[in-house]
Amino acid sequence: MDTTTIVVFILSSMAVIFAVFARGDHESLGASYIFGDSLVDAGNNNYLSTLSKANIRPNGIDFTASGGQPTGRYTNGRTIGDIVGEELGQPNYAQPFLAPNTTGRVILNGVNYASGGGGIMNGTGRIFVNRLSMDIQIDYFNITRKQIDDLLGKAKAREHIMKASIFSITIGANDFLNNYLLPVISTGVRISESPEGFIDDMINNLRSQLTKTINKLTQNECVGLANELAQRYNGRLRDLLTELNENLHGATFLLGNVYDLVLELITNYAKHDSERGLLWQWRAVPGDHTVRANVDHLRRSTKHVFWDPYHPSEAANLVIAKYLIDGDTKYISPMNIRQLRDL
Ligand SMILES: *[C@@H]1O[C@H](CO)[C@@H](O)[C@H](O)[C@H]1NC(C)=O
Ligand SMILES: *[C@@H]1O[C@H](CO)[C@@H](O)[C@H](O)[C@H]1NC(C)=O
Ligand SMILES: *[C@@H]1O[C@H](CO)[C@@H](O)[C@H](O)[C@H]1NC(C)=O
Repeated sequence: MDTTTIVVFILSSMAVIFAVFARGDHESLGASYIFGDSLVDAGNNNYLSTLSKANIRPNGIDFTASGGQPTGRYTNGRTIGDIVGEELGQPNYAQPFLAPNTTGRVILNGVNYASGGGGIMNGTGRIFVNRLSMDIQIDYFNITRKQIDDLLGKAKAREHIMKASIFSITIGANDFLNNYLLPVISTGVRISESPEGFIDDMINNLRSQLTKTINKLTQNECVGLANELAQRYNGRLRDLLTELNENLHGATFLLGNVYDLVLELITNYAKHDSERGLLWQWRAVPGDHTVRANVDHLRRSTKHVFWDPYHPSEAANLVIAKYLIDGDTKYISPMNIRQLRDL
């Protein structure tokens, strides 16, 4: 049985969508195709002229694969996308689409299209000058899709995509933080557009983006208003997924609620400490680079929920990924990722 599964996660004031494309047998995961923003960017912005860059120390200090060197990930270690792939058996991390060496059979491990500052809306992240918006990421996936066909032949390529790959989409936060809520740039839009109207636009864009992506696959070829927006958006997202579940046959959509999960981590970090030895404190690492360069401080900080004011630490990403893979319906419904894989 070929099924497409979309998992939607909502993170704090950010809205996160996670799409898993899964199947009915127990083969381990071969590839992970990752779309999104800085929560899951693995280095695309290194190759853009942009004000949103993460390939600077101390980012990556706990990332084993790079020996602690920055990679373009906006955190100290692995992202949620890295961890979920790893847990499901992906042999290598998905490589950034824009990296010049992401060519040939490397793409069969997956490709990462995510870009810090990117959003569902084309205008989102203009403040950073350059970023890959969701529409562009989907266009890039179309290129990868063709390359997989060329590498494996159409029939095998389809099998690879349908049976051994997961797809995740982690996006939405910037549409609020770096678009709608941005005072200067979005003033015009905000005057002419209500929060409801803006969310309508986001949902409509996302509907067409998800539909386009799925069709491509199957056809073969923090803050008061921010939180309120996120919550309203999350409600609409739930409706959208129900609608897509009914209309896009061959696809199954899961909804993950990272919004509640992060709240849980923030309010009950001590509980997660005693249970897992992961998080003993909630404190953002100060933005000051001299402070951040202090390794002792950073070592302690790796146990904080947040790595910087916007991005979860690897420790938090591990807890989040764990709940998404094995958690109960409070966090991911109607089933978790592992149950889906083992269907
Ligand atoms: C591509 O090059 C980067 C930077 O030199 C390196 O870190 C990465 O491991 C390479 N990726 C592959 C798949 O060889
Ligand atoms: C966004 O930009 C992309 C690439 O320039 C374009 O293909 C797409 O139609 C645009 N989407 C909207 C909603 O304007
Ligand atoms: C996707 O790529 C194919 C070639 O592989 C091309 O014919 C098609 O127009 C592209 N679609 C989009 C929406 O870019």
